[in-house]
Amino acid sequence: MKVLLTGGAGYIGTHTAVELIAEGHEVVVLDSLANGFAEAVRRVERITGAAVPLLVGDCADPAVVDKAFADHAPDAVVHCAGLKAVGESVGQPLRYYRNNLDALLALCEVAHDHGVHRMVFSSSATVYGDPATVPITEDMPLSVTNPYGATKLFAERILRDLAVADTAWSITALRYFNPIGAHPSGLIGEAPQGVPNNLFPYIAQVASGHRAKLSVFGDDYDTVDGTGVRDYLHVTDLARGHVAALDHLADSTGFRAYNLGTGRGTSVFEAVRAFEHAAGTAVPCEITGRRPGDIATCYADPSAALRGLGWRAEKTVADACADAWRWQAANPHGFAGQRDGSE
Ligand code: WQD
Repeated sequence: MKVLLTGGAGYIGTHTAVELIAEGHEVVVLDSLANGFAEAVRRVERITGAAVPLLVGDCADPAVVDKAFADHAPDAVVHCAGLKAVGESVGQPLRYYRNNLDALLALCEVAHDHGVHRMVFSSSATVYGDPATVPITEDMPLSVTNPYGATKLFAERILRDLAVADTAWSITALRYFNPIGAHPSGLIGEAPQGVPNNLFPYIAQVASGHRAKLSVFGDDYDTVDGTGVRDYLHVTDLARGHVAALDHLADSTGFRAYNLGTGRGTSVFEAVRAFEHAAGTAVPCEITGRRPGDIATCYADPSAALRGLGWRAEKTVADACADAWRWQAANPHGFAGQRDGSE
């Protein structure tokens, strides 16, 4: 299939592009480069040997989306574009609602106008809020504690309602747990701008000497060692989940959501130790207060994705640490200085 991949110049998007192409799909990237890099798309071309057209534009602009469909005639949409910083969303709710929801609405309306009714949507485990129990299954209550999470919850509701109203649609939402790692080639990986919000890129920057120490946000949670426990999923496994979801869209109509996680929890201290082993260097830590909004434990029951998509995670946290370190060591400044657009 020919896939319009929004956000395809970003962390999840580039890895998804690699796996889509590996399965024989054609990929056209639409990205505003707000969080992505044209150089990253060029590296996807290097990894795959395939041409990947990059359309630089805002997928919240219907005219931009319409031109993408008119020029490239995709068969399906994989929608990864969106603002995703939880803390930032608390201070900028309108920006997050406008950006994330306008983009979804524009994509759905324009796709329909062009007769396209297949979509894989990038959702998040954030839609579960602070789960009463773990592991988390897809039928557990949804609740959100921040505007970013709300955009994902509202987006799923929009897509569910759309699929009920028009049975031509086949839509799969993928609820990401915590993506980590990098492509084994070391050519693409996570390139956060400024101070990383997330644990693994921050650890990587401490290991590389770019930052002095890791602040551990609390060691007084009711967990194995008092630190937060999460389900860290290799980004290549996550990307393969998009391919599996896309391949199953043709067999069904309607809306469905799947957890993409390993089904195993890892604490902050366990993550630090795993990265130290991969990098062969110490990661100094300092225990600080809890981060507002954090929960103690979150990990998936991924069995529905295995049943429904034939997908399961195959790589380990150790694999992800090794791949992330290879990426960090080879690209200490990410894709910096590569923000030119193209086409
Ligand atoms: C993981 C653990 C922190 C940084 C977020 C979003 C979620 C999703 C993934 C988009 C927690 C601890 C972290 C640090 C630390 N993004 N930590 N020091 O919060 O589980 O999920 O990213 O979909 O929506 O909420 O991931 O990597 O920020 O934190 O101690 O410098 O590491 O307290 O226990 P999180 P994270």
